[in-house]
Amino acid sequence: MTLDLAVLVSGSGSNLQAVIDRIESGALDARLRLVLSNKPQAYGLERARKHGVPALCLEHGSFPDREAFDAEMVRLIREHGADTVAMAGFMRMVTPRFLSAFPGRVVNIHPALLPSFPGVHGQRDAADYGVRFSGCTVHFVDEKMDNGPIIIQAVVPAYPGDDGKSLGARILELEHRIYPQALQWLAQGRLTVSGRKVLLANEGQAPTVALPSGAMVNPPLEPGF
Ligand code: GRF
Repeated sequence: MTLDLAVLVSGSGSNLQAVIDRIESGALDARLRLVLSNKPQAYGLERARKHGVPALCLEHGSFPDREAFDAEMVRLIREHGADTVAMAGFMRMVTPRFLSAFPGRVVNIHPALLPSFPGVHGQRDAADYGVRFSGCTVHFVDEKMDNGPIIIQAVVPAYPGDDGKSLGARILELEHRIYPQALQWLAQGRLTVSGRKVLLANEGQAPTVALPSGAMVNPPLEPGF
């Protein structure tokens, strides 16, 4: 099946770019229906427009409350024909009302190995803590921040000399691999949620190891990702 996708951004949109690239390469079976930002200066909007994707900004400050903001996002997403939402560096929590509009079809990427280091500074918090491994997580979104069932994680080494920037760059490289892959599994209808666990139909046998920067990915990446 083809995903009808909306991507929510607040900033650079490099994960959005990874999604666009994998759609264009044919690896990800999705139609990108809409890119929405809550920040007018988000470069993600430009990336979308360059690829002919409708891109809109909704400034949350001009709405009376979260409910009103989310209701308008839901309206626009539906109007553009999307039924699946990928949050990609979108720096706002969504309301239960938003989630109930797209049940089981809202996903997020977080730049740490959840449940460690949730929140907006996952890379910096992990580097400052002195961990020897960190990574990134794609998960279903629920009402709590960075909390829903985990679809895929990638692990990268961390070093004493790391700060949020250097560790974040190593992590970002892997974000760009695992997010399109997770979306493709969603497109293929291969993901089932059972409590906290996400089951992937026909999962590969062993985690992908020895990627650039010593990373490891589980479940393993499939060809094209
Ligand atoms: C990524 O690290 C993402 O995991 C985090 O914010 C960053 C956004 O990067 N939530 P980009 O906008 O996709 O380049």
